[in-house]
Amino acid sequence: MNISNDSALTIRKMDNELLNSWVDLLEKRTGIYFPKERQYFLETSIILRMKEINRDDFTDYFHFIHQEKEGQDEWLILVDRLTIHETRFFRHQPSLNLLKEIILPALFVGNNNRKSLKIWSAGCSTGEEVYTLAMVVDQFLQNYNLKKILSEQCSMSVTGMDISLASLAIAKKAVYKHRNIHHVKEKYLEQYFIKQSDKNFKIVDSLRQYVFFTPFNIMDIKNIVIHSMDIIFCQNVLIYFTKDKQKKILQNLVEHLRTGGYLVLGAGEILNISHVDLEKVIYLNALAFHRKK
Ligand SMILES: C[S@@+](CC[C@H](N)C(=O)[O-])C[C@H]1O[C@@H](n2cnc3c(N)ncnc32)[C@H](O)[C@@H]1O
Repeated sequence: MNISNDSALTIRKMDNELLNSWVDLLEKRTGIYFPKERQYFLETSIILRMKEINRDDFTDYFHFIHQEKEGQDEWLILVDRLTIHETRFFRHQPSLNLLKEIILPALFVGNNNRKSLKIWSAGCSTGEEVYTLAMVVDQFLQNYNLKKILSEQCSMSVTGMDISLASLAIAKKAVYKHRNIHHVKEKYLEQYFIKQSDKNFKIVDSLRQYVFFTPFNIMDIKNIVIHSMDIIFCQNVLIYFTKDKQKKILQNLVEHLRTGGYLVLGAGEILNISHVDLEKVIYLNALAFHRKK
């Protein structure tokens, strides 16, 4: 079966059986589910990628993806094309207000012996969420004169994780276009961004020192050795998974949260969450949970 010379965007050429095999493979390996209405995007993305590398046989490409070395490399590129990376700095203000007003005071105030603050951004895309979290925490520490604790006795880390290597490479560079930051408040721009040119702005090293990025598949989170996180942000990620997978991921995220830690999800992203160890944090327009035991 070959790709026609016509525009890949306007024709559907893959037979249903093979398309279903792709849907199954993606769900099995990444947990991401492509329902009927997103299968056109799946098919055209595969076609465009095949054109890019001069492959024209669908079945052949499907087998190629299964090969050990080259297939693995190609798989990672394809996954990057099939995932949605939309993100922005200070994306969901109610969740950030919750962080400032409830979570950080609960973790810091009255606890001068804190030794570490460990934050995860699961599904961090190109890094904007990670740097936003680092900026908000840094501001909080400045406002409450807690920066001294941080430098003397407490280590802080904000770790961004994503399945897309291409997104992580952008995140690590920490360089963003003016159009990506024009909505960021002046006080953050002044403190945390350095102008590199008219178009490019880089996150300052004093913030980057707290920030780490690492590849991961949220389905394999059980294998991640770092535990006892204080805060996990997982926003605009779970919507791409089936209910069963969401439940499994949620269970795994909770296992990586320390007792007393907080899990912040996208507001309205998943419904009917119940977990014996979790207590809902009541906060307008945000969806968050406190791990009570
Ligand atoms: C829409 S972005 C959300 C970015 C950020 N959390 C935000 O809210 O702005 C979703 C991210 O989840 C990542 N993702 C999708 N499936 C994943 C998986 N199985 N493991 C890890 N990351 C995944 C995608 O690569 C993408 O960068």
